[in-house]
Amino acid sequence: MTATRHVIGLMLGTEEDWPRAFEEILGRLGPVAGPDGGRHAFDCERITIEPFGLRDRPRYHLVIDRLAYWYYHPREWLKKIAMMDGVYLLNSPFTFQSMEKHAAYCAMMRLGLKVPETVLVPYKNPVDNSRYAYTAARYNQPFDLDAIAGQIGYPLFMKPYDGGAWRGVSRISNPDELHAAYDQSGGMLMHLQKAIDFDVFARSLSIGAETMVMRFQPDQPMHLRYAVDHSFLSPQAGAEVVTISRLVNAFFKWEFNSCETLVKDGEVYPIDYANACPDVSLTSLHYYFPWAIKALVKWCIFVLLTDRRVKLDMETDRYFAIADEAGMSYQEKLGAYRALADAYFDSGRYQDFWAGKQAQLDDVVLDWVAGPAFDELLIQTVKSVYPAHEHDKFIAHLRGLLGLWVRDETARLAAA
Ligand SMILES: Nc1ncnc2c1ncn2[C@@H]1O[C@H](COP(=O)(O)OP(=O)(O)O)[C@@H](O)[C@H]1O
Ligand SMILES: [Mg+2]
Repeated sequence: MTATRHVIGLMLGTEEDWPRAFEEILGRLGPVAGPDGGRHAFDCERITIEPFGLRDRPRYHLVIDRLAYWYYHPREWLKKIAMMDGVYLLNSPFTFQSMEKHAAYCAMMRLGLKVPETVLVPYKNPVDNSRYAYTAARYNQPFDLDAIAGQIGYPLFMKPYDGGAWRGVSRISNPDELHAAYDQSGGMLMHLQKAIDFDVFARSLSIGAETMVMRFQPDQPMHLRYAVDHSFLSPQAGAEVVTISRLVNAFFKWEFNSCETLVKDGEVYPIDYANACPDVSLTSLHYYFPWAIKALVKWCIFVLLTDRRVKLDMETDRYFAIADEAGMSYQEKLGAYRALADAYFDSGRYQDFWAGKQAQLDDVVLDWVAGPAFDELLIQTVKSVYPAHEHDKFIAHLRGLLGLWVRDETARLAAA
């Protein structure tokens, strides 16, 4: 019987590690049986950038994008193929473009989440527009930065409304630092946000219906930021972190995103969750890398074999109705949001879909990560990321962590 072929396009920036891992696992897994009883095969292609007619038909059924967040030609192509051709995208390019950190804060505050107190202040420097001087002179109110900071309370964070990768972020303890940071902000539009003196920092990576909550150590260098720690949150805080991550994603139609929450005395404060197309590199995710690539493979196959449609409408009222329920507690609202998110991700069907196939995929991934092809990828990746004098150190470091994953995974599969 011939298999139905599905073409997955990868839109890539500088990375080589996860795309190779993705291609490798998909290739080793081979054709997959669909709910229709037929066999389905997957071709994976790297997308090149070229002129496109707006009525051209793309050859892809699904595209994974990690480029469009800064490169606008392919971003516009993504909008076209989502809008006109029904190509499945893991993150809606519409909300992704318009929902910077600020809009994401507003949305989750609207839903009653514990986003720390945040104020948006006007630009420090004049905006480069011939109308600015008139508008500013006439309508920009003078304001007292110290009074705003005083109301929020020190320490606080000043950070760009559309930030990422810690660009322009500073922690501020007193009025001198406040003014220095604001003077430096120049042409960036800044939030002031109450600092949370957190006990633990949870960074969760969600891919489709799956979420991995990882202990994050922001003060460490990149390769040590994710600690391998399986029970650093209470069950309730852990569940809340997962719910918040999925809620954000279901709300914005993002299926490949990371969410940062600070946990203090059992309370969960979301601070950074508009990170669609997050970093999933081997050097930063290390132990969690096999999980991430497996989840990506699983979600793509599920999407393609269940005819999941790309959703472009936001349906915010369904979420706001829960937020506005006077009689509901915070925990009850979280439960209701979780139900909406589970419905969006079709979580039950996803579990059923993979139930009969998971063992084979687990074997494929374990076999690959434990073998020489993966080690070769690890070496290549380290060589492309670090200077020569650090190669040995980082190869040993990553081999140690992935070796640990292989031992844990072997034990897990033996126990299953
Ligand atoms: N309200 C806050 N309380 C405590 N730490 C914060 C707060 N906001 C930001 N930080 C710290 O600053 C870092 C960068 O801020 P974040 O909002 O995550 O911006 P980015 O999008 O640049 O990652 C966070 O990882 C965290 O360590
Ligand atoms: Mg962040």
